[in-house]
Amino acid sequence: SFQQKIPKGLKRLPGPRSYPLIGNVLELGRSNPHLTLAQMSQKYGDVMQIRIGTRPVLVLSGLDTIKQALVKQGEDFMGRPDLYSFRHIADGQSLTFSTDSGEVWRARRKLAQNALKAFSVSPSPNSSSICLLEEHVSKEADCLIKKFLQLMKEEKRFDPYRYVVVSAANVICAICFGKHYSHDDKEFLSIVNASDEFGEVAASGNLADFIPVFQYLPNRAMKKFREFNTRFLRLLQNMVKEHYKSFEKDNIRDITDSLIEQSQENKVEANAHIQLPKEKIVNLVNDLFGAGFDTVTTALSWSLMYLVTYPDIQKKIQEELDQTIGRERRPRLSDRPMLPYTEAFILEMFRHSTFLPFTIPHCTTKDTVLNGYFIPKDLCVFVNQWQVNHDEKLWKEPSTFDPKRFLSARGTEINKVESEKMLVFGVGKRKCIGETIGRWEVFLFLTTLLQQLEFSVPDGEKVDMTPQYGLTMKHKRCEHFQARQRFPVQSSE
Ligand code: HEM
Repeated sequence: SFQQKIPKGLKRLPGPRSYPLIGNVLELGRSNPHLTLAQMSQKYGDVMQIRIGTRPVLVLSGLDTIKQALVKQGEDFMGRPDLYSFRHIADGQSLTFSTDSGEVWRARRKLAQNALKAFSVSPSPNSSSICLLEEHVSKEADCLIKKFLQLMKEEKRFDPYRYVVVSAANVICAICFGKHYSHDDKEFLSIVNASDEFGEVAASGNLADFIPVFQYLPNRAMKKFREFNTRFLRLLQNMVKEHYKSFEKDNIRDITDSLIEQSQENKVEANAHIQLPKEKIVNLVNDLFGAGFDTVTTALSWSLMYLVTYPDIQKKIQEELDQTIGRERRPRLSDRPMLPYTEAFILEMFRHSTFLPFTIPHCTTKDTVLNGYFIPKDLCVFVNQWQVNHDEKLWKEPSTFDPKRFLSARGTEINKVESEKMLVFGVGKRKCIGETIGRWEVFLFLTTLLQQLEFSVPDGEKVDMTPQYGLTMKHKRCEHFQARQRFPVQSSE
């Protein structure tokens, strides 16, 4: 048969027996592959192989094994597989999803990281906020509070996701394009509200990526995915066009300007030997915007769901805010170390929901060995973050939602050992480049909202927390959120 020769002394990858043509598709189930694969790993171990269709996939579980592969053997595991759906993202030019993992990818990643830093967490030159990110989030959180209160007056209830997504998108939009959209902008709304159509198809284990016949069958999800990518790309390309028109060398307004500048001056000194085409620099803004709004929106939206499900936890956060910050001034990023319970809540939200159940798929760049198993080059790799965050060997009662698990014994600070076990941003060479921004944004949005508002759902109304599988898992939209102002605010005018 096709069975590959294994070098002497190495073990063949274990895994379930697979059927011809379909592989393990039946056991995998369409709905919750992260759960099925977590369960399978108890039988076959941290390093196992499944088949989706005829294509073999390596599945990694266990924090130590994942760190061994992605950090210690980072070079071997840093590739991205050539997947059908990924070819439709950003015209196949994405930093995140394209198969690129060599010099060009490395140089682009560095450029993206620097641009991101300069327009978010670096000290702000001309204002009272310590950084631009703080400025943008404070402003958007204020707008969001006003919007929620207005909705309460007019409708008595609302679906928070619809508004949170605009606020989170506006933050990354300000950083990337220096632009703000209103909560009523139809074009913007229809795009940012359709990100589920992206996540559904870009998720690990999408059958069309592994079984070619699915590419040719009429496929509603795939059609919507392609339409979403086209519309998204068009919106961003228009933005870039406008920036070229009004570009001034001495007035770099945002990330797009900064990337245009870099592409013109070819400032990439350390990488002078590789030539990056202009477009491959400027279109990095697509990756930043795309990655920046859906993740943060999803994190905030899950946070609100946990807050109304556990009103006592919401109260404790608000007590901490009242004691540390009071009501006279707004929360700031620098308050983070003084708000351990709030921080523990955010960590527990990330852990318990693990709304990015798998990292983006990886791919081996050469033949390698992991835990004594032979692993061939070009093998697609799924990294099961959900398994790590619910591993009974690492966590006491992993299915219980309890922020206290992240606190020190006296409850006065975060327990570092515990917090470093949590895996949602990936690790190693491909780890998220927006981790700091993501964590800071979630913190500042939540504290600003919770200082002023108390969230609830009417008595007797159920909150459905069942995650819907995808690249980022969402909960069902909840239409009956309510918000109440906690105390009369002095008008700031
Ligand atoms: C990649 C999580 C926010 C930019 C990733 C990956 C994960 C992740 C799991 C894949 C890691 C891998 O493949 O091993 C998150 C979470 C976020 C968040 C949970 C927020 C709560 C952001 C933000 C940005 C961003 C705000 C940018 C503004 C990126 C980029 C990559 C990435 C560019 C691709 C890196 C590469 O392929 O080299 N993120 N992310 N992320 N993230 Fe994030």
